[in-house]
Amino acid sequence: MQTLKLLANKKEDIKKASELIKKGEVVGIPTETVYGLGANALDSSAVLKIFKAKGRPQDNPLIIHIADLEMLSKLVLDVNDKTKKLISAFWPGALTIIFKKTDIIPKEISCGLDTVAIRFPNHSVALDIIKTSGVPVAAPSANTSGRPSPTTAKHVFEDLDGKISAIVEDSACDFGVESTVIDMTREIPILLRPGGVTKEEIEKIIGKILVDDAVYSKISDTKKVSSPGMKYRHYAPKAEVIVVCGDAFKTALYIEKNKTKNDGVLCFDEFFEKFENAKSFGSVNDISEQGRQIFAKLREFDETNVQRIFSQCPVDENFGLAVSNRLKKSAGFNVINIEDKIWFLD
Ligand code: TXA
Ligand code: MG
Repeated sequence: MQTLKLLANKKEDIKKASELIKKGEVVGIPTETVYGLGANALDSSAVLKIFKAKGRPQDNPLIIHIADLEMLSKLVLDVNDKTKKLISAFWPGALTIIFKKTDIIPKEISCGLDTVAIRFPNHSVALDIIKTSGVPVAAPSANTSGRPSPTTAKHVFEDLDGKISAIVEDSACDFGVESTVIDMTREIPILLRPGGVTKEEIEKIIGKILVDDAVYSKISDTKKVSSPGMKYRHYAPKAEVIVVCGDAFKTALYIEKNKTKNDGVLCFDEFFEKFENAKSFGSVNDISEQGRQIFAKLREFDETNVQRIFSQCPVDENFGLAVSNRLKKSAGFNVINIEDKIWFLD
């Protein structure tokens, strides 16, 4: 299949993208988090094309993107008071909410669950495409399953050229990591994936929430997961990744002592000069920049011959939790906590 390259700033290209979606085709679209792979959410065969193009396991449900709250009422059964508060605080934005679903949602989207994930993106091009196509748009991240999520149109071409009908090219994504996912169908709301809207910001609006264990650590193969996406290794470059957590100077020292010539280093800007085969992903205190760069840098390592990548990591607070979670997932939770290893400094 020939993949059309469309431009976000051309009106007729937005129209083309929307028409393709309306016709049941799959199109790469920009959002403020990462690029998505969009199709008509109410068309089972279009939804199946998404799974095929990505090589996505059939039991991993998709997020439905809407462009107004009228669309929401057709897709979900109940919007409780806390959820209403979240919607007015964070939509449109980088927050995906899990609801009880209505029957119009094809089983291919929800993969047998009685819930559905909905997001109202805050991105003019994504909203234009949804409105012009006139249908809710199912969209996972536009990467091959398992690869780092795409934050530029070039990444989408790398993974999906020839496999989808078109890609709408815009600038790089503002957040660079995927939306926060919160399940509001539970008695106590639970964060399933940290992202652009932080746990701290959510708790200011609706009080204490839980965080799923899978955000922090590897879950055993036998445990039932809350979000099917949690059980798959994600964001993984070809090389093995080892995440080194703790004070930035100590982690740099640890990496310096333990890396061999064939290893790469993903570090904060301040330590870039210190290492061979290094890529830096933002200043130590600039978590937003780290979010924007992390997936692109993980991808860049695939063009090198490094066998292992040692990575520094921000603290698990605010947006740092999202960046840290993506790094640890890329490492299959192969994590070294430097504060537990203070002896190595002797
Ligand atoms: O920022 C984003 O959310 C991007 C852009 C394109 O909007 N989309 C995205 O989609 O990251 P995806 O499919 O890569 O990640 C969706 C996650 C998966 O981990 C999936 O398992 C989970 O949401 N999910 C979807 N529906 C769910 C449900 N009903 N219950 C629990 N988890 C669900
Ligand atoms: Mg994804």
